[in-house]
Amino acid sequence: MEVIITRDYNEMSLKAAAIIAEQIKKKPDTVLGLATGSTPIGTYKELIRLHKEEGLDFSKVTTFNLDEYLGLSSLHKESYNYFMWKNLFKHININHENVYIPKGDVQDAEDFCHWYEEKIKEFGGIDLQLLGIGSDGHIAFNEPGSSLMSRTRVKTLDEQTIRDNSRFFRKEEEEVPRFAITMGVGTILEAKKILLIANGVNKADACAKFIEGPVTSQITASALQLHQHVTVVLDEEAASKLKRIGYYNWVRDNKHLVQKYLGR
Ligand code: PGA
Repeated sequence: MEVIITRDYNEMSLKAAAIIAEQIKKKPDTVLGLATGSTPIGTYKELIRLHKEEGLDFSKVTTFNLDEYLGLSSLHKESYNYFMWKNLFKHININHENVYIPKGDVQDAEDFCHWYEEKIKEFGGIDLQLLGIGSDGHIAFNEPGSSLMSRTRVKTLDEQTIRDNSRFFRKEEEEVPRFAITMGVGTILEAKKILLIANGVNKADACAKFIEGPVTSQITASALQLHQHVTVVLDEEAASKLKRIGYYNWVRDNKHLVQKYLGR
């Protein structure tokens, strides 16, 4: 796991966008796994800028989103479908047919989850998965206690997550959906590369636990310790409770020196 500590939200967003852009340039038909929430908005803004000003080409890219609220239609302003179009897709040259987001208003959610898993396989799996993290350590909507082998399925949201997300809903907490369709931890771990971003002091505990604590289903992000290619980009606040900051910065400072041994 590579841990990159940046000054602030802006620097975190630029770094994450640069990693995604590099992946797309290397493999134009990249399959991207995408996330919603407040964390990736800056990353998406920078990807839009890279598209508009530097010609970053999304025409062959396919995307799969992590999750969606169950019970919201894709037109609902707080649906993740709406979020993705507003904050990214409508500003870039992605082929609409290449966008996959779980559907919140399906008749048979179990059937849909199975179909979603198969669809990801059909595309040869996800090349690069972008993740945020919840204050309870969740990735996607894999709340504490989710199996680390779990697949795309319906999940009941934790009350903390409902409280965290209530800020997006206009009225009261009751309005926030209680259920979601989410990729499982096992689904996420099959991505070839993973990029997790986090900012702000309210993520500091979760980041310390998932990076430096034991692997546990109580902090589902900790399962990323079992993955071979994870990059974590944090701002200083989210990194503030890490114990080994000195080592992460030492790795960064020596990165240019190790390149010659890596044949890249
Ligand atoms: P946030 O959500 O980016 O809005 O903090 C992250 C998450 O819950 O995964």
